Amino acid sequence: MIQLQTPLSIPFLFLPLLKLMAESLLFSSAESLLGKLASDAFQEASLAFGVHRDLQQMKETMELIRGVLLDAEKKNPQSSALSEWLIQIKHVFSDAEDIVDDFECEALRKHVVNTYGSCSRKVRRFFSSSNPVVYRLRMAHHIQDINTRLAKLAYQRNMFGLQVIDQDTRVVHVREMTHSHVTPSNVIGREHDKQEIIKLLLKDDHGQSLSVISIVGMGGLGKTTLAKLVFNDPIIHACFPLRMWICVSNDFELRNVLIKILNSAPNPNRENFNNFETEQLQIHLRNTLEGQKSLLVLDDVWNEDRARWDELREIIDVGVEGSKILVTTRSHKVAAIMHTKSSNSYLLGCLSEKDSLSLFVKYAFEDGDEMKHPQLLKIGEEIVKKCGGLPLAVKTVGSSLFSRVDEKEWESVRDNEIWNLKENEKDILPALKLSYDKLPSYLKPCFASFSLCPEDTVIFGTGVRMLWGALGLLPPPKAGESMIDATQLLHELWSRSFLSEYEDHGGECRFKLHDLVIELAVYIAKGKFEIIKNHNPKSYKNAHHLTFAANNLLDQTLLPRSLRSITFPRGANNEVFLNTLVSRCKFLRVLNLDFSEYASLPRCIGKLKHLRSLSLLENENLTELPDSICKLQNLQSLILNGCIKLQKLPKGLANLVSLRCLCITTIEPGCPEKEIASLPSLELLGFYQCDNFESLFKGILLHTLKRLTLIDCKSLKTVPFHAIKNLEVLMIFNCNKLESSMGLSNEILDSRLKLLILSDLASLVTLPRWLQGSANSLQSLVIQHCINIYELPDWLPTLNCLKQLEVLYCPKVLSLPDNIHHVTNLKVIDVTGSSELWKRYRPEVGEDWHKISHVNLVWQDYQSENEKELTVKS
Ligand SMILES: *[C@@H]1O[C@H](CO)[C@@H](O)[C@H](O)[C@H]1NC(C)=O
Repeated sequence: MIQLQTPLSIPFLFLPLLKLMAESLLFSSAESLLGKLASDAFQEASLAFGVHRDLQQMKETMELIRGVLLDAEKKNPQSSALSEWLIQIKHVFSDAEDIVDDFECEALRKHVVNTYGSCSRKVRRFFSSSNPVVYRLRMAHHIQDINTRLAKLAYQRNMFGLQVIDQDTRVVHVREMTHSHVTPSNVIGREHDKQEIIKLLLKDDHGQSLSVISIVGMGGLGKTTLAKLVFNDPIIHACFPLRMWICVSNDFELRNVLIKILNSAPNPNRENFNNFETEQLQIHLRNTLEGQKSLLVLDDVWNEDRARWDELREIIDVGVEGSKILVTTRSHKVAAIMHTKSSNSYLLGCLSEKDSLSLFVKYAFEDGDEMKHPQLLKIGEEIVKKCGGLPLAVKTVGSSLFSRVDEKEWESVRDNEIWNLKENEKDILPALKLSYDKLPSYLKPCFASFSLCPEDTVIFGTGVRMLWGALGLLPPPKAGESMIDATQLLHELWSRSFLSEYEDHGGECRFKLHDLVIELAVYIAKGKFEIIKNHNPKSYKNAHHLTFAANNLLDQTLLPRSLRSITFPRGANNEVFLNTLVSRCKFLRVLNLDFSEYASLPRCIGKLKHLRSLSLLENENLTELPDSICKLQNLQSLILNGCIKLQKLPKGLANLVSLRCLCITTIEPGCPEKEIASLPSLELLGFYQCDNFESLFKGILLHTLKRLTLIDCKSLKTVPFHAIKNLEVLMIFNCNKLESSMGLSNEILDSRLKLLILSDLASLVTLPRWLQGSANSLQSLVIQHCINIYELPDWLPTLNCLKQLEVLYCPKVLSLPDNIHHVTNLKVIDVTGSSELWKRYRPEVGEDWHKISHVNLVWQDYQSENEKELTVKS
């Protein structure tokens, strides 16, 4: 949701930029299209279909246009002719994209039939398409139409005096991953603020039971960061035995807030609060809060409804003297509603110029390098002045100049006219926008897709990777390279400070997006990615991506035909709408029906040949699926976990030749192993609540599988991990029959496992021996809520790549292996919830602290259980 402090300033600030922004994704579209047209596979296919010459012509004309696009994007299109021209290009590109995509589908279909069909008539029939002659004619006609339009536009380009710039010079210099980049110790210029807030929190309230302190200030000032600094301070730990942290954001629904708070408090009985009634939640929370002094942080509050706040407050206030609530908010009104005394409000100011500069230097230069570039430093000072003391602005602009040494480039940032648009001195957008502009073109569409992300949620790399893959946003690999790795792109975005709280676990990463970053993405993506909150047909006429925020689907006759992705609201059950969508939007690539209530899907879904991703997460009303789903030869991910009523899986799974990710819940007694083993591209596999599985992967091999998730498989006893030698990520949750050996007696040689999470495994008493085979690969090991595990084996220190060890809520583990100091790569040991370990190794005071003093020992309590669980459910 767009919520700036001064809403009135939005149209004023945004208007001059609007057109420029809308077109700034064009160059990357051109790049991506040309990359495809030039690929060998494509050339071959176009020859086979007899349209080679036409497509060649398309490529050549498009190259002419691409040549001037960078310059056109740079120009402030004051001239309406130029912006009109760009809009035309956008439309042609969009149509060309559809054609190219169609072609790819057809070529893949041919390939499938040729490879698998020769031996089986059934396969041939299964994949039969329309008459090939008709298809060829139709395509040729479309291509010619596009060529005519392109030729006209190419001719017109001469009218605008545009320069040919062929190379995107915004190459990326990726910063090395350093933890200092994200840790609170990296915060500059907030020590005084921190002490002031601590003072407020420790102030004697003369018998008052619950008081509220607020940190107020505009977006990008670092309120959350500051609150975290305070929250983690030892003085606060000593003073408040119970500390809880929740992100409130726009959702002030009492029930949801209560669940969040409970999830962030210790939960020894592992209750699932989502199933509780509001009444039960209240009682539970009051019991938790009683008898101990607590600190509750409510981060990012927007609620201005006093009644709602009073209702919550009444529940939280259990009469413990000295308990506090710390609120962060952009709004003075919110702060005023939440407490009666204005002296409890802390107005967070901007960073001083000196501190801003230190921060900038930290982000823009390699350590100490600023000394070598006094000239740049001088320009930097002037840039910093324009950032108005907002840490987020300083960081992103600094990052975007990281390791760039061309003075001209620095000057162009300093002199950029975007700064002048800052009529309202409080708005952060110019700095972020400037940094966005400096992204290389292939990162721009990826960034724009963040507009679909909800605020204040943890986002997982795998999910983003699947989305980018499905939407075709990943840049084509350069000659000689294999696939582009989305993780690398995320890393680039992180190194430019667009991602916050980024954590890399090896094989999986997670991060958050600052509200203002999402706002920028929403803004960039306007017209293309749309979140529908109300029915305004104009706003989505040309949209490619629609997300519904609430359960009010629009009139189906308004669905844009060119739709590429759609996300349904929770609880959606309008069948007419779904039928229309499936028959009308032929280019659909992503169909997200998570948490909806359909009992089945239309059969004609098998005709959506462009569909890459079909997600039906937690559809508890779904009883059947049409087998025609297995005709979707482009389908890359099929998500069926939590479909507990589904009677059987669709027939013919083995035909999903592009499938990379499969997650299922089934009541069937066995896993369709043969079918799964024959999927040639499968990388991610998840079984959820498959209660009748006793063993997996008997007599099959899964060479391509990189990630396996097993959750709530109550009968599962054996998993021969030998069968999945190339596995990189393994996560096992709540499989109570799975014993420590997991049915294997010996180690797996040369395993590639990087990340292992073992959670809620009651039969686990020690670590499985086979893990020893991961000595040269395992980077992160997480063992949590395993109540019977009583030791970490002596061989643990042979895992010499281990960087991160988490032993969370394992009460019987009393010590770490004696030779733990042999793991020289180890950076962090988190023992949250394992109090014996904390006592024993606690920095400075624990009796065995000296054994691990080279490692950062963590004991967190604010991190909500919820977030941890999301690691798996993503
Ligand atoms: C889906 O199931 C829930 C719970 O069983 C039920 O309340 C709801 O009415 C169902 N929805 C539809 C559309 O049938």
